[in-house]
Amino acid sequence: MKRLVVISNRVQQLNQGPGGNQGGLAVALLAALKERGGVWFGWSGSTVPEFTGEIAYEHEGPTTTAVIDLEPQDIDEYYNGFANRTLWPLFHYRVDLTEFERDFEGGYARVNHRFADTVAPLIEEEDLVWVHDYHLVPLGGELRRRGVANRLGFFLHIPWPPTDLLVSLPSHRRLVEALFAYDVVGFQTADWLENFRHYVTTQLDGTVGEDGLVTVGDRTIRAIPAPIGIETAEFEAAAQTQAAAFARDRMYMSATGRSLIVGVDRLDYSKGLPERFAGYERFLAQHPDRRGLVYMLQIAPPSREKVDTYQEIRAALDGLSGRINGEYADIDWTPLRYVNKGYPRPELAGVYRAARVGLVTPLRDGMNLVAKEFVAAQDPRDPGVLILSRFAGAAAQMTDAVLVNPYSADEMSEAILRALTMPREERIRRWESLIDCVRREDVHWWCDLFLDALEDADVAAV
Ligand code: F6P
Repeated sequence: MKRLVVISNRVQQLNQGPGGNQGGLAVALLAALKERGGVWFGWSGSTVPEFTGEIAYEHEGPTTTAVIDLEPQDIDEYYNGFANRTLWPLFHYRVDLTEFERDFEGGYARVNHRFADTVAPLIEEEDLVWVHDYHLVPLGGELRRRGVANRLGFFLHIPWPPTDLLVSLPSHRRLVEALFAYDVVGFQTADWLENFRHYVTTQLDGTVGEDGLVTVGDRTIRAIPAPIGIETAEFEAAAQTQAAAFARDRMYMSATGRSLIVGVDRLDYSKGLPERFAGYERFLAQHPDRRGLVYMLQIAPPSREKVDTYQEIRAALDGLSGRINGEYADIDWTPLRYVNKGYPRPELAGVYRAARVGLVTPLRDGMNLVAKEFVAAQDPRDPGVLILSRFAGAAAQMTDAVLVNPYSADEMSEAILRALTMPREERIRRWESLIDCVRREDVHWWCDLFLDALEDADVAAV
């Protein structure tokens, strides 16, 4: 098995252990590295006044992490700038929130150079190199320019937008052409891949051949759908731990006899939290008999706090949660618990298991691993119901969830009632179909799917 070099903006610390507060992507990449061994390279999360390119290493078993510090200007222009003020909103179909600043592009290019300069010497001849996400699209080309002739793969964790939206980015052509330095490019769903192919054929005069081969000029890459999964077996086991049982009991004891509706999301406008609150508010308004019998817990750890749109969504949610509780709360009942911090995974597993309903209703999402974790945490004899946005990548696989349009408060309200009143047999039937997919198409399946395609690819000419 070939050694892996994973490159992503963020790198998970190795010494966090299973109790650590890790995101789905980090868990997935760690799983890939545990299996194959190799290096995970990225930004340390810290800044230094002047970039040095000095690498800090950590080792655990066959896995090494290698991180660099960046300059404050890099973070402003690259992370808070082009990545999260331009690409993130645009790729989540939010042209209205997208900022188009040339300075951001300069910073984005500079950091990709810096990444390439520092990581290139760590790459050995036979390594498979796997670059992740929208922060690092140009990295493949930068590595090729430094003589890296290895197989290079790129995986996009977020949606790929329709051509009509993408062309509003002044440098759209440069960005997409940069993907042709890779050998394999992966998307979460067939729909995002279709959007990519549409762009290539209509804007770059490219062709789409058999077997996922996409050609522009003299470069051919393989573009594939590869939906990311979770470490299902580990998460199912986490739901059986003492920490999970403790969290579950804490939920039960704090609201005896009341049904829990749970949501867990980074505090991000793509997650549809105001719309979710509005859907729940509609449910409370339409079903007075249900008040006092349910409560909603929304866990939403803050994210990208330097970016104004994130500050605005936080302020909006503070207002909405206050309004809902002000309107509907009683002396012994809080309809909405809204918590701005993260929890370790076993505790989350316990919270999911205590829930009658999981609300995963992003306005747009590359995949959404919370949907899969919610399913993996359920009690097979009495599972909760997953309400899932049609606009999450996960909806393509999880068709036995209750699928909703997250923009419609009425649809959300109906879905909540349906989930709360769903007969046990139907809950079990739906859950069995969902868990079957979550087990079969887990993170190991995803890694093998992508890396097999990468190993089979013809090596690009440098
Ligand atoms: O899954 C998309 C993603 O942007 C990852 O690349 C990223 O690590 C994660 O969400 C969390 O975002 P951030 O690293 O900006 O906190």
